[in-house]
Amino acid sequence: MPQKWTPAGWRKKPARQIPTDYPDPAHLQRVEETLRSYPPLVFAGEARNLKASLAQAAAGKAFLLQGGDCAESFKEFHPDNIRDTFRALMQMSVVLTYAGAKPVVKVARMAGQFAKPRSEPTETINGVTLPSYRGDNINGMEFTPEARIPDPDRLLKAYGQSAATLNLIRAFANGGYADLHNVHRWTLGFVKESPEGKRYSELADRISDALAFMEACGITPESSPQVKQVNVYTSHEALLLGFEEAMTRVDSTTGDWYDTSAHMLWIGDRTRQLDGAHIEYARGIKNPIGLKCGPSLDPDELLKLIDVLNPENEPGRLTLIARFGAEKAAAGIPKLVRPVVREGRNVLWSCDPMHGNTLKTSTGYKTRPFNAILSEVRTFMEALPAEGAYPGGVHFEMTGAQVTECIGGAQEITEENLQDRYHTHCDPRLNGQQALDLAFLIAEGLRGVRQNGKKQKAS
Ligand code: PEP
Ligand code: CO
Repeated sequence: MPQKWTPAGWRKKPARQIPTDYPDPAHLQRVEETLRSYPPLVFAGEARNLKASLAQAAAGKAFLLQGGDCAESFKEFHPDNIRDTFRALMQMSVVLTYAGAKPVVKVARMAGQFAKPRSEPTETINGVTLPSYRGDNINGMEFTPEARIPDPDRLLKAYGQSAATLNLIRAFANGGYADLHNVHRWTLGFVKESPEGKRYSELADRISDALAFMEACGITPESSPQVKQVNVYTSHEALLLGFEEAMTRVDSTTGDWYDTSAHMLWIGDRTRQLDGAHIEYARGIKNPIGLKCGPSLDPDELLKLIDVLNPENEPGRLTLIARFGAEKAAAGIPKLVRPVVREGRNVLWSCDPMHGNTLKTSTGYKTRPFNAILSEVRTFMEALPAEGAYPGGVHFEMTGAQVTECIGGAQEITEENLQDRYHTHCDPRLNGQQALDLAFLIAEGLRGVRQNGKKQKAS
């Protein structure tokens, strides 16, 4: 029998990646107490709706698009950045819906994606060693001893920024900006003249024609609100468990516990130990959960993790996010997918082609080759059907802004170009153009899955 669960139960388990060097632990406790009294950011009913949509994706009837910043920051907090990432997501979603012919479940890595797991606890520059930067809700990125001290008040600032970001996302999603009639207006200026921009513009023309036809048939935004509104959900890594615990509340309609800091939470590749604090916390909340699955995950361990996180085998509850890297994906993905299919576990498979493809240039920039990202997505789209499973989603680090963080793509960003607009607070992100390019590729992959599916049925 599993042990009784409480929101604070994780505190008795070994916890990786959670800072223990707050100079004044009583200050941290006071902040967590304050957060406990703050309003939830999301409503449990919304998390249930997302779970139902993810269940559709797990069944091959929808596709998950999850994306946004690697790390949100106080410095990059600006309405234009929120809008640009939102519209890059909308563009990708339109491409996937139209060209891939599947409803797209949109989940932003926004409104709470602050805390970062780090490979090393310290960072050394020019012979000076300081604690690593762990995300703006923990410490500061500047390379000074003061900035790197964890400060509990950052949690309150992050809560406020998350609330304001979510408010704008909700306004865009429901207030007219996401109306399909705006399909042409989502193209970011710098994308317009690119080959992807032109391809998108042609697709947008076809959608506009289809809308005009539907309106002539009496299907209007008034009669069909799906045309003018979208659901955009939020997500982040459930890393800093003190914060997540403070946001965990009982849902009055069901009596279940929900983490009200986001609709969906995921467990990172560095914190998914079976007996660890993060898995203990995640097993008790009813939100949809993601689990990052990298090369070090043993298939038997994965089955045990599935049992703990989804004991009732509920579809939509668990999304397995494969992040192997282009080179390891072909061998690594089937090794995990096969036993999960064999054991009949209901999961949604998603592909994170970012985190296994990070490298450092000779000039010290962390980057990702666009070709490696494409290659991992392709491998995923082929490997899943080969194992009798559905490639049901993608997980990206991207931004609508015109950054130069990932090398390659249609703009042929070189190592030398990286310095031009390298703004990320953690990992390198796809820019608006690269993200759109990728959406077209995935849409083609999805069409392939659909056609193969049809062929199989016909024979
Ligand atoms: C992330 O998603 O930003 C991340 C750190 O991923 P992973 O846990 O897969 O390394
Ligand atoms: Co990252």
